[in-house]
Amino acid sequence: MTVLITGANRGIGLALAQHYAARGQTVLGTYRDKIPEAINGVEWAALDVTDTASHAALARQLTGRSIDLLICNAGVYLDRSHTRTQEQWQQTFAVNVTGVYLTIETLRSNIKSARGKIAIISSNMGSDTSAPGGSYMYRSSKAAVLNLGRNMAADFKQHGIAIGIYHPGWVQTDMGGAGADISVQESAKGLIARFEALDLSNTGCFESYDGEKLAY
Ligand SMILES: NC(=O)c1ccc[n+]([C@@H]2O[C@H](COP(=O)([O-])OP(=O)(O)OC[C@H]3O[C@@H](n4cnc5c(N)ncnc54)[C@H](OP(=O)(O)O)[C@@H]3O)[C@@H](O)[C@H]2O)c1
Repeated sequence: MTVLITGANRGIGLALAQHYAARGQTVLGTYRDKIPEAINGVEWAALDVTDTASHAALARQLTGRSIDLLICNAGVYLDRSHTRTQEQWQQTFAVNVTGVYLTIETLRSNIKSARGKIAIISSNMGSDTSAPGGSYMYRSSKAAVLNLGRNMAADFKQHGIAIGIYHPGWVQTDMGGAGADISVQESAKGLIARFEALDLSNTGCFESYDGEKLAY
């Protein structure tokens, strides 16, 4: 099985890459600037999900390679301060929403040839049902990518491609912070079990890493 993970150079993406590599899967990890050192079993490819030239280069590099599982993991959280600039809004949506769409389009034929599947890492903060306030840019971008994933799931079903949307937990990464609930290992293990359970019968699902079904 070949797995491609965006934003695999650190955080949850890196843990997923390491877990799949340890299971002997072929792992393609994407990075923006710097390949992490001493990671065995991961083939690296450059991708800035906001950059169309970068997408075109990735498409060329992977021509003819089947992808069984695409994990759209790259994301940003820019709501740290109370000032939210237009640039921050644009960057948040460019990475968390448009970046996911462009990645799927870039790799569509690679996934199609494997009758593969797609996992989108959103967040429980993207739920419209639970809307406690705050983090406007992040919450609305994760809601948008949840909506995108569900609509693409409806369209891709006819091609035999399932798409699931996932919450990885509150995870100890640069984004989640040291005080978060769970380790990257626990998150990755749970997510991998969810991805294995994804097929056309539950395409469009919105689930947490631990199997909990989340409200849209
Ligand atoms: N941690 C949590 O508690 C939590 C909770 C819910 C959802 N999530 C979601 O889980 C995913 C992974 O989060 P994380 O905690 O592992 O975050 P992280 O540690 O901050 O890592 C983010 C990853 O995304 C990459 N990235 C950012 N902008 C990019 C771009 N323009 N093009 C390509 N890659 C880009 C980063 O690459 P660089 O190193 O180049 O910046 C990095 O590899 C994100 O989608 C996040 O929203 C996380």
